[in-house]
Amino acid sequence: MKFFIAIFLVFSVLFSSDDYELPEEFDKQTYEVGENIFEQKCTSCHVKFIDMNKVVRNFFHEDNKMNLKAPTANQISFRLKQQIGDKSDIEFHLYETSDYLKSYVLAPDRSKSVCLEGVIKYFNGMPSMRGVVTEEEIESLNHFLYFLEGFNGINEYFHDETLF
Ligand code: HEC
Repeated sequence: MKFFIAIFLVFSVLFSSDDYELPEEFDKQTYEVGENIFEQKCTSCHVKFIDMNKVVRNFFHEDNKMNLKAPTANQISFRLKQQIGDKSDIEFHLYETSDYLKSYVLAPDRSKSVCLEGVIKYFNGMPSMRGVVTEEEIESLNHFLYFLEGFNGINEYFHDETLF
């Protein structure tokens, strides 16, 4: 019996998730709905994920050698949280980034860019997605984009599907 208790204790320590807690605002189902819409409606131009160090190297040292047609989703995720709204309250921040995303996706305009000029200069502009995505879909897209890539202490919920 003691043996089994010992085994149980070892396993609970090994698999405890105390060091990785998702924020209460995170909703796995909405995230997956958003991810699906992104894959269907945005990946013809936006790559979903490339390691940030590689993205930076590509745009700032290698003249877009990867030939990317648009910023990657994790790049947008990173900049979205950095540039839009108030980072101190995730629940409220999600509303702010959602409003921004609706405004951008339905009426794209370079003056609304959250990415650096050194990145945007490689692209030819984004067509409006009006009629392609609904506002409700953009809310799910926002949830996905918000939690996709962590950002310096503001959101450490780095995208790792094995943890969801
Ligand atoms: C036909 C290609 C294309 C499609 C499809 C597309 N985008 Fe874009 N998107 C771009 C380009 C190119 C940019 C870079 C901005 C520019 O060139 O003006 C961009 C920029 C963005 C930005 C702002 C990033 C910044 O700082 O400039 C967001 C947010 C965005 N796209 C979200 C989406 C979402 C969400 C979808 C799917 C519903 C989508 N895009 C579909 C081409 C596209």
